Amino acid sequence: MPATRTTGTEQLSEWTRAFPSHLRSGFAAGRALEFRWPRGVDRSVVVGMGGSAIGADLLRSLTDAETELLLRPVREASLPRWVGPSTLAVAVSYSGETWETLSAFDEAGRRGAPRLAVSSGGRLEERAHLEGVPHLSVPPGLPPRAALGYLLGGLLGLFDPAFPASNRDRLDRASKVLVAHAEELSAQDGPPARLAARIGNRLPWICCSRDLAPVARRWSTQIEENAKRLAHWDVLPESLHNAIVGWDALQRREASRYILIRLEGFTDDGIAHERFEYLGSLLARKKVPVATVRFDVIDRLERTLSAVQWGDYLSLALARRSGVDPLPIDAIQRMKRQLEAGGARRKPVRSGRR
Ligand code: PA5
Repeated sequence: MPATRTTGTEQLSEWTRAFPSHLRSGFAAGRALEFRWPRGVDRSVVVGMGGSAIGADLLRSLTDAETELLLRPVREASLPRWVGPSTLAVAVSYSGETWETLSAFDEAGRRGAPRLAVSSGGRLEERAHLEGVPHLSVPPGLPPRAALGYLLGGLLGLFDPAFPASNRDRLDRASKVLVAHAEELSAQDGPPARLAARIGNRLPWICCSRDLAPVARRWSTQIEENAKRLAHWDVLPESLHNAIVGWDALQRREASRYILIRLEGFTDDGIAHERFEYLGSLLARKKVPVATVRFDVIDRLERTLSAVQWGDYLSLALARRSGVDPLPIDAIQRMKRQLEAGGARRKPVRSGRR
């Protein structure tokens, strides 16, 4: 119904526009929790699913490059065997009700791992309070994917002491840049809308180097959920060791099904360029179009956030072009109703020899 469509589009656009302010307030809340790292803890798992998981990947791209901390995002109900008393386990579930996240949270408790929880309420918050686990509250009422600012900002705040210097000023600077770009990016004829037109009905195959890999994943999942269509993300040089065989075998008549979108980052060096050129010339022979979106920003945090913002607007532009309401995600809700009722009774498979 047209009225609902307008509402969904407007709401998501509004939340996308609020991303910079969500980031800042999430960061402030994360810092305010004043979580003290337990002695002897030098690694962390951040457990979550879907919209609640991507913040951990984005954070990891920063911690890997700028800190000594070993951080592993986990997207399942059971934890790696090495998680124990010297690993901080952070459970992130926007609703606080996700079966996999709750199971992993409980498992971390049984293993004696120090824990933290992040949610807008739900059973995760209840359990955290009951078990004396510090809990970071994020505001309720958003779809998890639209709460990325709060979730990522919150994680950045919690992990801020692991960085050589606080991220506060850098985040403020980055937020200002995001605000300054929002108008152009959301315009009906802005760069994301123009790329959406180029994509048309093709499957967007989003490709980048390691630096922007979590961003490519976010682009892909936002396109899936907001525009209700498949997308794929891929990282070079790895895909030159597998996906290239599929590209090489592509028939000319299949070329109209795909478009390669290259996310080019500031850290892409001569080696990365050479590899993209190689793939690009193979695709040119196959008549698969290639679009490049360049994020020529020196600061890693600003680059990452700018690239996330760009992709969020692209997903909304694709939804607009196809006339779909970006808000509902019925398929996820149906899946949860059907599987989580059973899942709640089942125990996850424990890590072990078998
Ligand atoms: O985008 C979504 O709604 C999903 O990917 C959810 O984030 C996912 O199902 C997990 O739910 P929650 O974020 O509430 O833990």
